[in-house]
Amino acid sequence: MKKAKIAVLVSGGGTNLQALIDAAGRGELPHGEFSVVISNKPGVFALERAAKAGIATCVVERKAFADKPSFEAELLKKLKEYDIDMIILAGFMLVLSADFVKNFPDRIINVHPALIPSFCGDGFYGLHVHEAALAYGVKVTGATVHFVNEVTDGGKIILQKAVEIQEGDTPETLQKRVMEQAEWIILPQAAEKVAAQIVG
Ligand code: GAR
Repeated sequence: MKKAKIAVLVSGGGTNLQALIDAAGRGELPHGEFSVVISNKPGVFALERAAKAGIATCVVERKAFADKPSFEAELLKKLKEYDIDMIILAGFMLVLSADFVKNFPDRIINVHPALIPSFCGDGFYGLHVHEAALAYGVKVTGATVHFVNEVTDGGKIILQKAVEIQEGDTPETLQKRVMEQAEWIILPQAAEKVAAQIVG
């Protein structure tokens, strides 16, 4: 079967990358294969997870470049080197420019730890998202996987899953529950859906 060549972009611990690797290991990503994991930060645990799974890794550091266009040009070069069909942002903490995104229309997906259009957009990433949800007092939050376009967290929604907030939740306990009950489930499902569309 033809497979979409996937690059996973990461910035940190890589639990979502692990969920993708595990799902593929269970045969749940038949239309995709991981060609490379790219981190914008050296030394992050996501790179170890990738190496352990036998996936090529590389680091493209934002601060190694004078400006965003030259950083993104290097990123694009790497993606071309691996002949990438599809990009998964799995805990990637930089916002990609409109110029970059234009190279991969409907080919970049992102997992966001809230139910878009709540608690999303510039400044809403990682734990901040859960802090904002708790501060607002919502009773239900969740995760969203969406296509990436020129608007931060603004692309078409692919999958969403709701998660209940519990009495006494902290940003950390909520983050863990949203990951376990939503992100790690819907990210691999959405990846397979998009990969199948690409190679289908
Ligand atoms: C995840 O909760 C992911 O949804 C979020 O950061 C965490 C990364 O964890 N991403 C964003 O906030 C992007 N806007 P991980 O490195 O363990 O997958």
